[in-house]
Amino acid sequence: ELISKGNHRHYMLKEIYEQPVVVAQTLRSYMRRIDDQVSLPIPDFDLSAIRRVTIVACGTSFYAGMVAKYWFEQFARIPVDIDVASEFRYREPVLEPGGLALFISQSGETADTLAALRHARAEGQKIAVVVNVPTSTMAREADLLLPTHAGPEIGVASTKAFTCQLAVLAALAANLARAKGRLSPEEEKKVVRHLAEAPAALNAALAYDEAIESMAGVIAGARDVLYLGRGPDYPLALEGALKLKEISYIHAEGYAAGEMKHGPIALIDDAVPVIVIAPSGPLFEKTVSNMQEVQARGGKVVLISDYDGIAAAGDGCLATITMPKVHPLIAPLVYAVPVQLLAYHVAVAKGTDVDQPRNLAKSVTVE
Ligand code: G6P
Repeated sequence: ELISKGNHRHYMLKEIYEQPVVVAQTLRSYMRRIDDQVSLPIPDFDLSAIRRVTIVACGTSFYAGMVAKYWFEQFARIPVDIDVASEFRYREPVLEPGGLALFISQSGETADTLAALRHARAEGQKIAVVVNVPTSTMAREADLLLPTHAGPEIGVASTKAFTCQLAVLAALAANLARAKGRLSPEEEKKVVRHLAEAPAALNAALAYDEAIESMAGVIAGARDVLYLGRGPDYPLALEGALKLKEISYIHAEGYAAGEMKHGPIALIDDAVPVIVIAPSGPLFEKTVSNMQEVQARGGKVVLISDYDGIAAAGDGCLATITMPKVHPLIAPLVYAVPVQLLAYHVAVAKGTDVDQPRNLAKSVTVE
């Protein structure tokens, strides 16, 4: 094998641990530290004329796209549509002139995403591609190519490609915001400085590996697990549930924390662990009140938050995972780490084939 696992038991764990380095590597090519500005390749079309962004992807890449929707709307005030590729292609989407279609893919070969890309091009959209394999078909078909520099990803369950996608998408959000006149040079400097803090914060998050491993046994015994988050951390709840399903075969669902009362709360009892992703910040209080609704029904909560969040709301939880305190912009990158590690250790506890889960392929080249 050309690529080794190093000292790690699985490729997935190795790739989780590579994140501080590969995210730094990716960020380096999208920002200039001399003047703290983002610097993307200059497209042959006018970014400031983009009126709508349509994001299309599959699997974990789709969840990176969901985070980007929050960022593009919040920073650049550009309306964003988002779809999984298999739905987008066949729902006859309305694609008006002046639209940017953004495709996110680790492999650059996923058949549904590629078909969606070609459809969007035929409908007159400009094509941007965030891709990890620079020689891939999608990379070749892009008008604006935004590579992630995660290096080869071997584990079927995507980890480092996801955080690198988020790094690129945050830089793109800032670039769009600037093009739309919504980000002053001073604000842009702040964004760049927050992003530059991500690698160290990812390192700090990895330091909780053993603590996460020690709680994996409890989750491994569960039949169902629920993940809750809000705002840009809601897609992380979806990603957490996907990771757990993919490699441990435990049924898991991710939900927007505020939507839980419209259904999944009926599932709650003391046999259903609920993983709550709640960095302290503007949405913290609301998420905590949803968490308390779970606790009032006997639900066992694992709270992932920072020191302040755990101090404020950690009492009564089954377990807590303390993350470094970070700016909300980089929280989705940093909180990806505990979510990945939890799925990993649960799968190891269950003895599944972590790198090659049953029925799954690394790259799905059939529609
Ligand atoms: C497969 C993989 C997932 C991946 C998805 C999309 O289902 O198992 O890990 O997220 O494809 O792949 P892409 O290469 O397009 O990101």
